[in-house]
Amino acid sequence: MPADAPSEFALPDGVHPFPHKHLTGIAGLQPWEIGFLLNEAEQWIALNRATAKHDDRLAGLTQINAFFENSTRTLLSFEIAGKRLGMDVINMHAAQSSVKKGETLLDTTATLNAMKPDVIVIRHDASGAVGLIADKVDCPVLNAGDGRHEHPTQALLDALTIRRRVGRINGTVVTICGDVLHSRVARSNILLLGTLGAEVRVVAPPTLLPPAVERMGVKAYTDFDAALEGAEVVMMLRLQLERMDGAFVPSPREYHHFYGLTRERLALAAKDALVMHPGPMNRGIEITSDVADDIQQSAITEQVEMGVAVRMACLDVLTRSRRGVEGWA
Ligand code: CP
Repeated sequence: MPADAPSEFALPDGVHPFPHKHLTGIAGLQPWEIGFLLNEAEQWIALNRATAKHDDRLAGLTQINAFFENSTRTLLSFEIAGKRLGMDVINMHAAQSSVKKGETLLDTTATLNAMKPDVIVIRHDASGAVGLIADKVDCPVLNAGDGRHEHPTQALLDALTIRRRVGRINGTVVTICGDVLHSRVARSNILLLGTLGAEVRVVAPPTLLPPAVERMGVKAYTDFDAALEGAEVVMMLRLQLERMDGAFVPSPREYHHFYGLTRERLALAAKDALVMHPGPMNRGIEITSDVADDIQQSAITEQVEMGVAVRMACLDVLTRSRRGVEGWA
C-alpha cells in the first residue's frame, strides 16, 4: 500500500485479506482486499523483468482458460502468468470447441469441471455468464471479461499502473472517455477507483453514457474539454462496435472530432497527465498515434506489463486455499 494511503484502506485487525473463492468482479470487494491484491502483484514485477521468470509455487496445478470471445492481452497474460507460476495451462477457444456444435454453456461447464482443474479463467460475451459458471464448478473462477458487466483484472492492472506512475489512487482525478455504455472496463474501473477514493469522471456522447451513471459515484460529462480540466489520468475506451445494435455515433470521424484524444486536447489536462487505454486501440478514432506512442505520458504498454503481474497475484491468492497455505485452508 502506498505511504499516503488512508488508514481506512488498511487491513483491519483480525480480518482475512481475501476471503473470496472467486474473482467475478470488483463489486463487493473491500478497499483493503483490492489493496492486498495490488500489493501481492508488486512482487511479480521484478520476476517478470528478470531473464529467468519461473516461480513454480503452483506446480502440479491445472489452469483452464475458457475464452468464448476474442482476446489478445487477457488470454496471453493469463497463460503467461499461469506458466510462470508452474501450472499446466490449457486454452479452450470457443471457435474450435463443441460450443460450435450447439453444446450449452452449462454442459461445457460440467465438462471442464469433470477434468478437475484447479482454476478456470473465463471470458464470455454474455453479462453474468462467469458468475453462473462459478456457481457450478468446484474450483476458483476468474472473470476475464463478461459482456458489459465486469473485467476485474483489467481494473486491477489499471490501478496498479496508476499507483506506480501517479504515486497514489486516493484523491486522483481520473477522466474515463468513450463508450462507457458498453464497457466492462469502465464499469470495473469506476467501482475500483471509487472504492479507493479517486475522483472519477466519465465523458461520452449522450448515446454512450449509461442512464443515471452518476449513481455509480462519478461525474458525467458530454464535453470532453471540460472533463479534462485538472485530470491526472486520462483513460480512453475503445468504441465497442461489436456490442452496438444500431448507430450510436454519427461517424468515426465525427466521434474523433469531439471525443478523440489528440495532443492539443491532452494539453487541457493536468501537466504530465497519464494516458491509458485498455486496448485494443482504434488509432485515429479514440486516440491519435502520437499520443498513444508518447513514451513519457502514455502508460499503454506498461498496462500490459502490469497485467501479467496482477494475474499472477490473482492466480496465487485464489489457489491458496486448495494448496493448504497457512491461514488460507
Ligand atoms: N484489454 C483487453 O481485455 O484486451 P483483450 O481483449 O485483447 O484481452
